[in-house]
Amino acid sequence: TLCDIGFIGLGVMGKNLTLNLADNGYKIACFDLDKEKIEGIVKQDELERGDKPPRVIPCQSYTELLNHLKAPHLIILSVPAGAPVDHVCQLLIDAGIKPDDIVIDTGNSLWTDSVEREQLYKGKFIFFSTAVSGGEVGARFGPSLMPSGDPYAWTRIEPVLKAISAKVDPKTGKPLESFEPGKPIKEGDPCATYIGPVGAGHYVKMVHNGIEYADMQLICEVYQIMRDSLHMSPKEIAATFKEWNQGKLNSYLIEISAEVLEQNDAKTGKPLVDLILDQAGQKGTGLWTAVSALQVGSPAQTITQAVFARSISSLKDERIEASKILKGPACIPVPEEEKQAAITRLHDALYCSKICAYAQGFQLMALASKEQGWSLDFAEIAKIWRAGCIIRAVFLQSITNAYENNDSLANLLLDPFFAEQIATFQQNWRQAIADATMSGIPCAAMSSALNYYDSYRTETLPANLLQGQRDFFGAHTYERTDEARGKKFHTEWSQPGRPEIKIKK
Ligand code: 6PG
Repeated sequence: TLCDIGFIGLGVMGKNLTLNLADNGYKIACFDLDKEKIEGIVKQDELERGDKPPRVIPCQSYTELLNHLKAPHLIILSVPAGAPVDHVCQLLIDAGIKPDDIVIDTGNSLWTDSVEREQLYKGKFIFFSTAVSGGEVGARFGPSLMPSGDPYAWTRIEPVLKAISAKVDPKTGKPLESFEPGKPIKEGDPCATYIGPVGAGHYVKMVHNGIEYADMQLICEVYQIMRDSLHMSPKEIAATFKEWNQGKLNSYLIEISAEVLEQNDAKTGKPLVDLILDQAGQKGTGLWTAVSALQVGSPAQTITQAVFARSISSLKDERIEASKILKGPACIPVPEEEKQAAITRLHDALYCSKICAYAQGFQLMALASKEQGWSLDFAEIAKIWRAGCIIRAVFLQSITNAYENNDSLANLLLDPFFAEQIATFQQNWRQAIADATMSGIPCAAMSSALNYYDSYRTETLPANLLQGQRDFFGAHTYERTDEARGKKFHTEWSQPGRPEIKIKK
């Protein structure tokens, strides 16, 4: 019998997505340039399916792959973002792909590339972009999926993506999880929803990753304060994070941070975290989010700061030198009896900063949505992030509630629940940042979040002086508070101490 889906690219994500599709009853024709990867998935399928017929058909070429598929063809790509996507698309054209065939790109592609690709391949096949979050376990047992593109194609893709996606218990908003091959979760709300025109899904995933960067950096800053100021061991911090994971900070990232901190090195028996070089890598999606925030003019300083934190971490050799030269304050000791209160302050600081990072991400998506005419549905986006993805957290349910209560909410901070939360915990947030600052411990993302909050709630910012400066040196004009908005004024500023310029006419 013919296969339901063609799958190209059997790396970590591709292999796991294929097995997930197979678990959900789809028969897959597979291709990868690397023969070992094809053999690998065939073996894995043998192992998992028992005495049932093969669910995965290995193919040696694109032509063979197309021949194995039911028409119109549905093909999923999981190849590295960038040129490889176009390379594969071209090979599919050469192999005879048809105009009503669908190709879904699931890589971490730049959203503008997806927009261009839809145009580029028009008439040859339908290019559809679907962003995937959840890493390898997510791909295998239920990722969060952000599909976007041709609405007709979506009607064909919808059942497939909903089947393989993560599921949420509609009553509790918590993930319904099964990590057993062959036993996918069938009930619950699927973490896959149509995001909008092509590229919108990848844009939303890009912002997801920007938030992911911020979330991770905020946890790391708390960890550093706990180590350097409270002198807690990695195990003690792990225990604290586990406790936090039971409350409002419950999230996948807190959970895995505790696990990382608990891990001992096999070679030395020391906490592994102490042996990992403090130099962060990045593949680009956080940077793209920061660039997009700058381009659309949406304040996303905590996300951007998290990207910069990775940049400064990578200057390891310079930091070693600077640590010998540049002076800072001595760390203020925290007496044992005050330690618990300091930990609570860090908890609240992390919570408030996290709210701000998400507020920035959603504000950015709102501006981009307006600019691109996407009509993004933020309640739905928060819903599909409740399970499967890297930033999954109970917290996302509150964001869903906020947008369900008011779909034109200008900023999450203005939602009554979040406004009240920050009002309640902000004193601890401020104190935690003040303490770290007085001890000379960096907490760039956390302070940027507080500054975002304080800037956003300040009626009059010093941009009046800034406009004065601009008008002074460049006659850039300004608007007046006592005149209609939009009306421009310019002043012939006096320039004391400046020599008179004699212009010959
Ligand atoms: C996800 C992750 C995933 C990937 C990141 C890592 O949602 O599943 O975000 O897409 O792990 O791209 O990004 P960096 O290498 O830039 O940290």
